[in-house]
Amino acid sequence: MTKKPSVLLVEDDTGLQSQLRWALEAYDVAVAGDRAAALAKFRDEQPPVVVLDLGLPPDPDGATEGLQCLKDILAIAPETKVIISSGNEERANAVEAIAQGAYDFYAKPVDIDVLNLIIQRALHVHTLEREHRVRTESSLASLSGLVTSDPGMLKVCRTVEKVAPTGVSVMLLGESGTGKDVIARAIHQLSPRASRAFVAINCAAIPENLLESELFGHEKGAFTGAIRQTVGKIETANRGTFFLDEIGDLPLSLQAKLLRFLQDRVIERVGGRQQIPVDVRIISATNKNIPDLIRDGRFREDLFYRLNEIRIDIPPLRDRAGDVVLLINYFISEFNRQLGRNIKGLAQDAIEAVLEYNWPGNVREVENRVKRAVIMAEGRLLTAADLDFLAATGGTVEEYDLRVARERSERSVIQRALLKEQGNISKAARLLGISRPTLYELMKHLNIKA
Ligand SMILES: Nc1ncnc2c1ncn2[C@@H]1O[C@H](COP(=O)(O)OP(=O)(O)OP(=O)(O)O)[C@@H](O)[C@H]1O
Ligand SMILES: [Mg+2]
Repeated sequence: MTKKPSVLLVEDDTGLQSQLRWALEAYDVAVAGDRAAALAKFRDEQPPVVVLDLGLPPDPDGATEGLQCLKDILAIAPETKVIISSGNEERANAVEAIAQGAYDFYAKPVDIDVLNLIIQRALHVHTLEREHRVRTESSLASLSGLVTSDPGMLKVCRTVEKVAPTGVSVMLLGESGTGKDVIARAIHQLSPRASRAFVAINCAAIPENLLESELFGHEKGAFTGAIRQTVGKIETANRGTFFLDEIGDLPLSLQAKLLRFLQDRVIERVGGRQQIPVDVRIISATNKNIPDLIRDGRFREDLFYRLNEIRIDIPPLRDRAGDVVLLINYFISEFNRQLGRNIKGLAQDAIEAVLEYNWPGNVREVENRVKRAVIMAEGRLLTAADLDFLAATGGTVEEYDLRVARERSERSVIQRALLKEQGNISKAARLLGISRPTLYELMKHLNIKA
């Protein structure tokens, strides 16, 4: 016999409890009468669906306990489908609950058939979403160790798949920590050169006087200290891929030499006479604005065109709605594994903090903060303090600025809606109960990108 799907019923009316338990016999039903009991049961069972009465003690006539319970559940497992049950006069609360991430609501008195249908559908959606998550994660991971569900990033992935087999020179543009290294390696791995070397050089990290010999190699005696012949990085990458990171920092003298190599595909070691043919695929990356450098005479335009046969723009994390939470969950499970810990997710204050923050250090910053938090956390959920966000959320002066507070909470609700609807503006607008143009307007005002 297959296991019945589990459903948690949070309801303080004991009469209704037993009536519903009987009506929902198709499910493995756990029952709780207040928020504390609900959370304890939820942690134990992790049911995909929760039926939640908003009026729970000590506030049976209001909705504060129910809404808090909803928040807590979604903080533990955001994918949970929470179905709100409410009396007719509490409709505004039910709408509020939907805005906070509840899946659906139904009005009391209970119609068993309707409730059964809603639960069935919630279970179905939950299963589909899980399959979708597994599929996107595993397909992308098998490409490149890259986690994303953002449309802009997925486009980058498709471009990578298309250009990888071709051998054209690719230039990667993106802020620090956005994943330029990851993408460069993915291009190599998906190319026919995958079994050959991937050699990277960071043009900003090597002093100018050493860079030439690092790139092209040198003959014994070429300069003081050149006690033996040394093969350069380009030559080492023969038949593989050569990755020039921070290309914007390549000194002009070396830009000329690199250009010559790209035209003739032969190198000369420093102090050498011999012309050595080298076959490499070139990938370069920078977080600088190369057209600006060209205008200032600090970068050769002709070299730029050689390197930039195909250009890939990697969006910063603040423009990837939804990726922050996805990446956080990914890194939590990675570091759980690496560090032998068992963190379950984010606490509510952490969710708010991460959605508000604009991640100037991009994915690297997410990785670092989560790693620290997984090490430091004392509970099973990471708090804002674990993630080092305490300073930002403590009673700062702007806490009392109503406009700032309103914008902040608007931004957080909108981001959550976009997250839930995977960046689909129409659906997010519907979820938020506003029109599409209004949502666009708000997003523009709050500088949120879908
Ligand atoms: N989409 C992603 N999924 C999973 N991990 C990622 C993703 N993007 C980046 N990372 C990880 O984040 C860290 C930073 O990425 P990476 O080194 O590729 O950034 P970068 O753009 O090269 O940064 P910099 O400009 O500072 O060199 C790495 O540890 C990388 O593995
Ligand atoms: Mg890098």
